[in-house]
Amino acid sequence: MTAATRIEIDEAVSALAAGRLVAFPTETVYGLGADSTSDEAVARVYEAKGRPVFNPLIAHLPDLAAAERLVVFTDAARRLARAFWPGPLTLVLPRTADCPVSLLASAGLETLAVRVPDHPLALSLLRAVGRPLVAPSANPSGQLSPTTAQHVRDALGNKVAVVLDGGPCRVGVESTVVDLSGERPVLLRPGGVPAESIDAILGPLAMPGEGPIRSPGQLESHYAPAAAVRLNAAEARPGEALLAFGPTSSPALNLSPAGDVVEAAANLFSYLRRLDRPGITAISVMPIPEHGLGRAINDRLRRAAAPRPGSAS
Ligand code: TXA
Ligand code: MG
Repeated sequence: MTAATRIEIDEAVSALAAGRLVAFPTETVYGLGADSTSDEAVARVYEAKGRPVFNPLIAHLPDLAAAERLVVFTDAARRLARAFWPGPLTLVLPRTADCPVSLLASAGLETLAVRVPDHPLALSLLRAVGRPLVAPSANPSGQLSPTTAQHVRDALGNKVAVVLDGGPCRVGVESTVVDLSGERPVLLRPGGVPAESIDAILGPLAMPGEGPIRSPGQLESHYAPAAAVRLNAAEARPGEALLAFGPTSSPALNLSPAGDVVEAAANLFSYLRRLDRPGITAISVMPIPEHGLGRAINDRLRRAAAPRPGSAS
């Protein structure tokens, strides 16, 4: 770690100890971090994002041992943690009796979501601060998640004490969320760990559609640019901006000319931002295959295209 980074982390630790918000990079997207053990700091996260208070937050830890102090692990949960942490996987588990994390982060549920991010700056910060940090994606609620420090400064700059800059996020879509608090594991959000990789360890996961809504993050409209979004487009209609995928003769911005879903995930949010200009009628997106990270990409695109709250349709 450079001396400059050390100074920035010290600054971030002081801000967090004072109950202020710190944005930091993870391998997935930038997080809006706060001291999870302080009700006031956690409340500030909801306020800064304009996030509905019924939508719970993820506690971020430096390692599995730290996570075991907050939630009760099952065998299956431990197997997943050993396979994918640090990495883009979030586990929802029952809170321990003496869990120090603010109940606000659980939003009235008996469970807490936990994850160990795979980013050197995030891990240094978590170790230095010595307590779990809640960190939703560092964007106003409903909008696109940030994959660069500049995205955070643009949207929430006046609400955070420090923005740690780790460059563009490697994965580009949020963590996969698996609920292990019930009888069967349920995939609550497809994300950076492909569902196929989890199936390989636990057997096939139940999909959230198969039961009642268990994650408030399953709300329809989300991850939305200002422009409308049209899916499975072959080409742009007049007035639209095309977001291409795979080999094509189109000069449009292309998520992955080679047709690689991993590359496409890393580019997704920043390319949507680039095309989100006033005056266009919609961003039209070419089809993305529904395998690997393609599932997370299509989940985000479907929500970006869903009817917006307050819109007529
Ligand atoms: O990759 C990520 O997970 C990023 C980075 C910053 O770590 N964070 C992130 O947080 O995406 P957020 O708050 O934007 O999304 C958290 C998701 C939401 O869909 C929320 O509803 C769900 O996790 N969640 C959190 N706690 C839960 C719980 N106890 N039960 C069910 N779902 C939960
Ligand atoms: Mg989010």
